[in-house]
Amino acid sequence: MTDEQPMILEADALYHIYESKAEDGNVVALRGLNVAMRAGEAVAVVGPSGSGKSTLLKCLGGLMKPSSGSVRLDGRNMTRLTGQELVTLRQRTVSFIFQEGNLLPSLNARDNVAQPLINQGVRSKQAKAKALEILERLQMGHRALALPAMLSGGEQQRVAIARALITEPRLILADEPTGALDPVTSREVLRLFRDLHEKDGVAFLIVTHSKEVADFCDRSLELRDGRFVAEHGKDLDITNLEVGRELLVDEIGTLTLPPDMLVRLGGAGAYSVGELSPGRLTLIGEAVDAGSGRLVLAATCPACQHAYADDEEQLCPSCGSSRPMVEA
Ligand SMILES: Nc1ncnc2c1ncn2[C@@H]1O[C@H](COP(=O)(O)OP(=O)(O)OP(=O)(O)O)[C@@H](O)[C@H]1O
Ligand SMILES: [Mg+2]
Repeated sequence: MTDEQPMILEADALYHIYESKAEDGNVVALRGLNVAMRAGEAVAVVGPSGSGKSTLLKCLGGLMKPSSGSVRLDGRNMTRLTGQELVTLRQRTVSFIFQEGNLLPSLNARDNVAQPLINQGVRSKQAKAKALEILERLQMGHRALALPAMLSGGEQQRVAIARALITEPRLILADEPTGALDPVTSREVLRLFRDLHEKDGVAFLIVTHSKEVADFCDRSLELRDGRFVAEHGKDLDITNLEVGRELLVDEIGTLTLPPDMLVRLGGAGAYSVGELSPGRLTLIGEAVDAGSGRLVLAATCPACQHAYADDEEQLCPSCGSSRPMVEA
């Protein structure tokens, strides 16, 4: 993989708003994201629950139209394509592995896996034979004729992975692909991903909370509240995001500090600008007394008074507001 590889996926100023007539109103899930992925790259998306990871994946894969912004898949602007053109582009370029609900309940494992090929016009017999081959690679050959309801969560996920691989996509978008798997199967799946990545140059964009998955990726993007706040290189330690973190300043000049950095800085306040030159910025918080009270995540939501109890949620599950830090 080199910098000369063409772009496989690019997004500019991606916004997504879930509109609702209910009292709690609209949710802004993506706030102006830019993505640039080269063919053959493996990129992880990490971030707290509700930060917009699944929404981002759906918009990037053309499953959901973003409220605004453009997405280019393999050099073609998806937002401009008509229905059939979009289907064809997706079919020959990208596969999805979702958090759940990947399989058609009425088809057995083999036929679920064969379906994307049949949709592309491949003969059913040929498609089913290839489906069986991939299921065997994932140690699922013996369950090929079982309906999804007869399979465990982990087995269903392996069938979903086989289904994603059968079309030999150049890009795989995966939402927590190993979330439902035990450590052994999870390692098996990662080995397969690594093989596809290294030998066949398949690109991956993977939403994950798993250290092993993030480790497999070339870099990780940290998403918070619908914005990329930081980027991490290889060897990300997902339990300690502070190591090797590079903060991102976006095109409109926004810089968001992850909460753990805000705590170390001493908290919110006014900062005067020290040195400012190309590539360098120092901030001096005159009135910030880093030695004063310890900051913790607020116990209740300032917007709707939701009580967070003991959870580590960073967005309010009831109204979607960002959870502020307060003095302990
Ligand atoms: N269909 C929907 N209608 C309204 N709001 C939605 C919908 N889907 C998601 N949201 C909201 O959009 C925000 C982003 O949700 P998203 O599912 O993208 O988060 P996520 O990062 O994938 O979270 P998780 O880690 O829990 O899967 C959340 O505030 C969520 O409540
Ligand atoms: Mg999600």
